[in-house]
Amino acid sequence: MKAAILGTGSHLPKKKLTNQDLEKMVDTSDEWITSRSGIKERYIVSEKETLSFLSTEASKKALKMAQIDATELDLIVVATFTADFRLPSGASLVQNELKAYNAAAFDIAAACTGFIYGLVIAEKFVKDNPEIKVLVIGAEVLSSVTNWKDRTTCVLFGDGAGAAVVSGAKGRGILTSYIKSDPRVWDLLCVLGGGSLYPPFKEGIPKEEYYVKMKGNEVFKYSVRYMEEAARVVLDKAGMSPADVDWLIPHQANIRIMKMIAKKLGIPEERVFVNIDKYGNTSAATIPIALDEAVRQGAIKPGDLILLDAFGGGFTYGAVLMRW
Ligand code: ACO
Repeated sequence: MKAAILGTGSHLPKKKLTNQDLEKMVDTSDEWITSRSGIKERYIVSEKETLSFLSTEASKKALKMAQIDATELDLIVVATFTADFRLPSGASLVQNELKAYNAAAFDIAAACTGFIYGLVIAEKFVKDNPEIKVLVIGAEVLSSVTNWKDRTTCVLFGDGAGAAVVSGAKGRGILTSYIKSDPRVWDLLCVLGGGSLYPPFKEGIPKEEYYVKMKGNEVFKYSVRYMEEAARVVLDKAGMSPADVDWLIPHQANIRIMKMIAKKLGIPEERVFVNIDKYGNTSAATIPIALDEAVRQGAIKPGDLILLDAFGGGFTYGAVLMRW
């Protein structure tokens, strides 16, 4: 028995923000955003669309596909750094919405790699007991930490949630996984405000500190290096090569990063699942949203070898290789 994904789901906010909309907000152009990042549009929450709401809606769809009732869940893990509140966790709120009262619930803070970290946690629980049912969610309301006056970051981000139900299965599931972190470059991508050092009510802290700060081109270099490392490790551990991969589903941060990874690994671009044009970078949510889309479109077929690969603030990075 292996830990396998039995169902996927995703949910996006209603409001679409296009590159043309952004042209009216900051000094940018559709041409610049598209050519530098691959993004055409993204979705942004309204007040009623909280992180726990997006996550709950995505989870309901994943549970339905898995044919599992919320009361059967043993664990709910939400990967996010934009939960509704600092306390309780996003996972506790999702648990309440789903009435999944038999589960444990907690959040993990691994930025854009969070969904991969969540899958690895689920895999360990399911390895101990294949009956265990884990709901892994990657969700982010990045608009809440976006500086809408900073054209170098605001054009990249979007909001959304994706979910997967993980439990024991025969003949399919996670083959190998790898998670790692390099804290030496943490300051390339960070949100300093809102934590215990710079709490929201502390005087003298500039407003900008409560938004995502990023040294984009430095992040670019590290992301390519670390995503390649993670992909190679999981393939090596499984005794497989990039040629065996049916679908590479990378973190959707930038089309150029995805193309570069595919080139370095020697995976043809038609086997890389890309939807960054529609949703932008939704951090921990990009991989589960892409996975759900690939499954529902019928792109992923039973028996396919799927490689999930991500990096994020921290610097966290990791990959999961699974048989669908
Ligand atoms: N519109 C127009 N011009 C812009 C914009 C914009 N939105 N943003 C920056 N520019 C300008 C810059 O000011 C710069 O101008 P200059 O040459 O006159 O100084 C020029 O464009 C080039 O800027 P670069 O930063 O060098 O552009 P680059 O090609 O590196 O692309 C990008 C920037 C898209 C951010 C890229 O570096 C990238 O994708 N990096 C990785 C980002 C990433 O993956 N982040 C993960 C985030 S995960 C998370 O936050 C949760």
